[in-house]
Amino acid sequence: MALIEQAKPEDVDQVHRIAREVFAVYGDYGKLLPRFFASQGVTTYVARIGPEVVGFVMMGFMPWTGGGQEENPWIGDLLAMGVDPARQGKGIGTELLRQAFELVAQMSEWRDIRQVQLTCAESNQQGLGFFARNGFKVINAQHGSYSSGQAAMRLGRDFP
Ligand SMILES: CC(C)(COP(=O)(O)OP(=O)(O)OC[C@H]1O[C@@H](n2cnc3c(N)ncnc32)[C@H](O)[C@@H]1OP(=O)(O)O)[C@@H](O)C(=O)NCCC(=O)NCCS
Repeated sequence: MALIEQAKPEDVDQVHRIAREVFAVYGDYGKLLPRFFASQGVTTYVARIGPEVVGFVMMGFMPWTGGGQEENPWIGDLLAMGVDPARQGKGIGTELLRQAFELVAQMSEWRDIRQVQLTCAESNQQGLGFFARNGFKVINAQHGSYSSGQAAMRLGRDFP
């Protein structure tokens, strides 16, 4: 069973290793992730089995442009998640997502959070299936593209 906890600065190399592996097909994306890791306002959780980091999820929060002037809604932005390919299909991704939703629930005590959103490649059937089964719907099928040219889709899940 994996232990889910907030990442420590020394986890960056292991997170980077997983990101490079699972996002290699999307060009530079994996290389960008260490920058997210160190960014203010980004919370990273890791899944550990013993000393080994086997998965991660990164969450940020941003104002939602869909709000009217009277309102000040926010979205939870799931910036990235990945599980070591050798450990996929064992429930670790589901646990990481549960922890990310828990953070959103904590934030929603002092922010008006309307949705959790994320970007996923159109070709990523595994990821799209995983998120669809966890309540996400396509909110923009043409959300730009990754540096490798793959089309990106924006998914959203209403919160709570
Ligand atoms: C998407 C991703 C994070 C999911 O992680 P995961 O650890 O494989 O996720 P889970 O094991 O919780 O769930 C995956 C599947 O395994 C199945 N599963 C869950 N627990 C299981 C268990 N104990 N035994 C067997 N199967 C299990 C689930 O039914 C699930 O099926 P589904 O995907 O069809 O819903 C992982 O596939 C990944 O890293 N993909 C590459 C990167 C990526 O696409 N990231 C998302 C875009 S940012």
